[in-house]
Amino acid sequence: MFRIETERLTLAAHQVANVELLNRWENDAETNTLLTGHPREQPEMLAEAEECLREALDIDLESGRIIDCGVYLKPQRRLLGWAQIARIDRRNRSCVLALCIGEPADRGYGYGRDALTGMIEFCFGEIGMNRVGCAVFAFNRPCLNLIESLGFIREGAIRQSVLREDGPVDEYLFGLLKSEWGGNGGQTTRRQPPGA
Ligand SMILES: CC(C)(COP(=O)(O)OP(=O)(O)OC[C@H]1O[C@@H](n2cnc3c(N)ncnc32)[C@H](O)[C@@H]1OP(=O)(O)O)[C@@H](O)C(=O)NCCC(=O)NCCS
Repeated sequence: MFRIETERLTLAAHQVANVELLNRWENDAETNTLLTGHPREQPEMLAEAEECLREALDIDLESGRIIDCGVYLKPQRRLLGWAQIARIDRRNRSCVLALCIGEPADRGYGYGRDALTGMIEFCFGEIGMNRVGCAVFAFNRPCLNLIESLGFIREGAIRQSVLREDGPVDEYLFGLLKSEWGGNGGQTTRRQPPGA
């Protein structure tokens, strides 16, 4: 059964009950802009979200080309966000990572660092990847800082990947090789979550 455990987080299969939060985050203009370059043109209906979620639930997390999972905060297993290990290429041992801490209020507490560190460890360890990639828009400073601090190397850019009202934006392509991974995501220097 697919599972990534860190000290504070569990990354594991989605549950049907996740649909409302996933739908809310998908329709959040700021979050969607960070992930896709723009807010959605049309809001995602709950039924669409359910359909996407059911597709994710059908995926064989052990052998498929994509792992789509929830990010849960211990100990109550509150859903904090979602993570994706996509384009898993077992021949070339490479894949692409994406992550979202859904509520803006939950960001900045080190959960993104924990989750991404766990994902990288899993990719290089459990599923034998040699490289992990990540694509990030030039305006997504928190994510750029995070992945650069984990050792990802900027390998290129899709220039003017998105055309926004305030001008074109590049999308940067990053990669991290197994041989470059120090094996430790380090500690956040940011805020402590309430109650910690
Ligand atoms: C990018 C994202 C996953 C980071 O998760 P997070 O839990 O907020 O980040 P963390 O608290 O773990 O911070 C890790 C590092 O990110 C950077 N960072 C986080 N928030 C930042 C901010 N507001 N400004 C600048 N850098 C920031 C810092 O380098 C930080 O390291 P530090 O703790 O040593 O300062 C989260 O902001 C998010 O989900 N954003 C929306 C979706 C998205 O952009 N996904 C990435 C595209 S794949």
